[in-house]
Amino acid sequence: MVSSVKQRGTSSLDLWIRSARLFSGLFLSLFVLTHLANLALGLVSLEAIDAWRGILMAPWRSGAGSLILALAAFIHASIGLYTISKRRSLTLSRVDVVQIILGVLTPPLLITHVLTLRVTSLFVPEFDASYAVILSVYWSLAPAYAFQQLFVVMIVWVHAAIGFYSWIALRPVWPRIRNIVLPILFLVPILALLGFVEAGKEVLYRLENDAAWLDHIRAAQHLYSQAAPTLNAINTNVVASYWILVSIAFLSWAVRIYVGRSRPVRVFYEGDATATGRSGLSLLEISLTSGIPHAHICQGRGRCGTCRVDILRGGQNLTPPTDQEIKTLSQLHVTDTTRLACQARLLQGEVAIARILPAYADISAAQTPEEWEPKDSPSKIDDTLPAPVSSPLQEVTP
Ligand code: HEM
Ligand code: FES
Repeated sequence: MVSSVKQRGTSSLDLWIRSARLFSGLFLSLFVLTHLANLALGLVSLEAIDAWRGILMAPWRSGAGSLILALAAFIHASIGLYTISKRRSLTLSRVDVVQIILGVLTPPLLITHVLTLRVTSLFVPEFDASYAVILSVYWSLAPAYAFQQLFVVMIVWVHAAIGFYSWIALRPVWPRIRNIVLPILFLVPILALLGFVEAGKEVLYRLENDAAWLDHIRAAQHLYSQAAPTLNAINTNVVASYWILVSIAFLSWAVRIYVGRSRPVRVFYEGDATATGRSGLSLLEISLTSGIPHAHICQGRGRCGTCRVDILRGGQNLTPPTDQEIKTLSQLHVTDTTRLACQARLLQGEVAIARILPAYADISAAQTPEEWEPKDSPSKIDDTLPAPVSSPLQEVTP
C-alpha cells in the first residue's frame, strides 16, 4: 500500500534547503568542470587555453552568469554552514567528515584567486585576467600561490565529486552511465593539473626569451598593483568574517550535543535489542551510536529510503515527517506507520521500531526498491547474513 504519509507534511523549509544545497552545489560543479577543462588545454599550448577561454568561460563571465555564480556560491556556503550548525551528533561517516572539512576549507583558499580574477577589473577596468597573466604570476612571482591553486583544485574537486556521486549513484540511471562518468571524475582534475604545469613551463620559457611578452605581463602586473591594497583589505575582512561564521556553526553543533545529553531516550528494536540515546537524535543516529546495524545508503540525507522503519509504538514521541521524508517515502511502497530513521528524531520517552531492510542492503535497494520489498515480516530481519555495505561512497571514492 502506498502511504498516506503524503498528507502528513510539515514545513517545506527542510526540503527547500536540501534542494538549494544540491542544485547550487551542482551548478558550482559545472563551473569548476568548465574551468578545469579549460586549464587542461595547457597540455596543448598557452594560446589554446586563452583561445578557448572565450568560448568555455563566456557564460560565466557575462553579467548574468557572474551574478548567478556568486549567488550559488553564497547560497551553497551558507546552507553548508547552516547544516553543520544543525547537526546534533558526532555520528558521521568518513565520507561526511571529508566532505565537510574540504567544503569548509574551500572559501579561504579560493578567495584571493576569485578577487584577483573577478574583482580587480571593477577597480581597474583595463586589467584582463588572462591565463597568460595569471600563470605568469603563479609560476614566476608567487610560486606559493601556484601550489595553493594545485591544492585547492584537488580540494574543490573531491568535495564536488563526493556530493555529485552521492546524489547520482542513487538514481536508476547510474548503472548505465557509471562507466562514462567515473573516468571523467578521475581524469578531469588530473588533466587540469597537467595542463597547469605544462602551461607554467611555457610561461617560464617565454618570460626568459620573449621581451615583448615580458613587457605585456609587467604592464598587467602594474595594473593589478593599483588595486592590490583594496583587494588585500577586502580579502582580510572576508576571511575573518568567514572564520567567525564557521566558529559559530561548530559551536552550535557542540551546544546541541551538550544540551541533548541531559535528556535520555530509548529505542526498542524488533527482536530484543534496545538502544539509549539523547533527545533530538534521529533513530538512525541512535542505532549507529549504539552499534546496532541499520541500513543507511545515502548517509542520512533522506534520499535512499533504505533506513526506513515501521513504528510499532511511541510514534507520538517522534518529530513529524519532513517534506524530504514525505517525498522519499511517497516513491516507495510503505504503510502509514513507516518512517525514515534518518529523518525521524526522538524527542522524548521511548519508541519501538522494526527495521524494514537488512543492514547489508546495498545501493540497489535505493535504485530498484521493489526488488528489496521484504517478503517476510520485518521482525524476521536477519543481520547475521553477508557483511554490510553501508554506503555507495565506499564502493568508490572519486
Ligand atoms: C564555499 C565553500 C563550501 C562549503 C562551506 C560547502 C559545504 C558543503 C556541505 C556542508 C555539504 C553537505 C555535506 C553533507 O551532506 O552533510 C556540501 C555538499 C555539496 N557541495 Fe559543497 N561546500 C562548498 C563549496 C562547494 C563547491 C565550490 C562545490 C562545487 C564545485 C560544491 C559542491 C557540492 C555538492 C555537489 C554537494 C552535494 C549537495 C547535496 O548532497 O545536497 N561545494 N557542501
Ligand atoms: S539513510 Fe538514506 S533515507 Fe535515510
